[in-house]
Amino acid sequence: MEQMDVIVLGAGAAGMFAAIEAGRRGRRVLVIDHAKSAGEKIRISGGGRCNFTNLGIAADRFISKNPRFALSALKRFSQWDFIARMDGAGIAWHEKTLGQLFCDGSAKQVVDMLLGDMARAGVALWLGCGVTAVRRGAAGFEVETARGLVRAASVVVATGGKSIPKMGASGFGYQVAESFGLGVVELRPGLVPLTFAAQELDWMVPLAGVAVQGRVSAGRTGFDEAVLFTHRGLSGPAVLQASSYWREGDEIRLDLAPGLDVAAVLGQAKRAQGRAALRTVLARILPEKLARHIEADLAITAPMAEISRADLERVTLMLREWRLRPVGSEGYRTAEVTLGGVDTDGLDGRTMMARGVPGLFFIGEVVDVTGWLGGYNFQWAWSSGWAAGQVA
Ligand code: FDA
Repeated sequence: MEQMDVIVLGAGAAGMFAAIEAGRRGRRVLVIDHAKSAGEKIRISGGGRCNFTNLGIAADRFISKNPRFALSALKRFSQWDFIARMDGAGIAWHEKTLGQLFCDGSAKQVVDMLLGDMARAGVALWLGCGVTAVRRGAAGFEVETARGLVRAASVVVATGGKSIPKMGASGFGYQVAESFGLGVVELRPGLVPLTFAAQELDWMVPLAGVAVQGRVSAGRTGFDEAVLFTHRGLSGPAVLQASSYWREGDEIRLDLAPGLDVAAVLGQAKRAQGRAALRTVLARILPEKLARHIEADLAITAPMAEISRADLERVTLMLREWRLRPVGSEGYRTAEVTLGGVDTDGLDGRTMMARGVPGLFFIGEVVDVTGWLGGYNFQWAWSSGWAAGQVA
């Protein structure tokens, strides 16, 4: 039977980072993953360029039952620390928008950097090896794997969330947490496209592929980014972001012209371009296809000068405060993250160790810390992995 100091479950962003740190401290580390290759989500992330962190890391960019929990780890190993690792490895990067940092080349460079650092730190890696159980042993823990039983003083659970099952996602980390008496905060898909009932869908489907710069709000939280109409409903960054704040049964509010005084624009057009069609005026604000669609939907055929005040108000309301009630989301099949997870009440925010179970750690997405779209989730994986790697 193999005896290690640290077993890391999951060779994703968090697990690899924790393993590197523990290995550098001279610990005998074994990383186990049932997937055929390590860092699969890193490889496909950011459209193949990995949005590896964000310059604007702050507590309000993370969703958790305890939003302050993540702060300690995020401060101790910050976005600047990860950027220094990228620079040290000679991986070129750029800021795209909203502080989001991407590789100039390919996400594979990040995976290669992590695999190289793991090898140099003497970390062993078992791929294609499922883990079925973790239990307390005589001196630490016993981990049941497809290659047999392995023992270690510390176990770091980095098995990620439930999103994208076909990429190896499983609920295993939550089961481990519960088996050791830790709580699990309700799980839901996050950063996910929203779906609609037939009536709204009939409206949206002809617009599939049309994108507009809008503001999508769920509850009190709104996001100014692109909104994309699809064959299933709504997607695009603003919708994905809002989806993490949306609860089943709630409305979302769509502002198709954020910050614009639409009533004033329409009033001015009514006076100065009385013969223009509504769609022509709207096409100055919106993609032409959407402008035509709104005109047809509101059944306003008169030229601007003849459109009643009430009808112009309907147009303004539709553009600035369109209320929609999604029937659901596309679920874990396409969700970028899983909201909820191992309850932070049971974890030490400095080390990620389970309070009542010395030697057992939870890091990355399996924990009830979920970032916004834009590199926040990888930063959480690096920071929480780093924190555990200092003590595991
Ligand atoms: P992760 O899911 O990466 O790794 C968990 C590992 O555990 C997997 O390799 C899995 O195979 C393994 N595992 C699970 N159960 C097991 C078991 N029972 N036995 C053995 N192994 C097991 N974030 C971001 O910041 N910037 C971005 O650009 C993107 N882009 C992006 C695109 C897409 C399509 C997705 C789906 C997600 C993103 N994300 C992202 C989110 C980001 O990928 C995610 O938050 C991190 O990968 C989480 O890292 P973890 O290491 O916690 O889990």
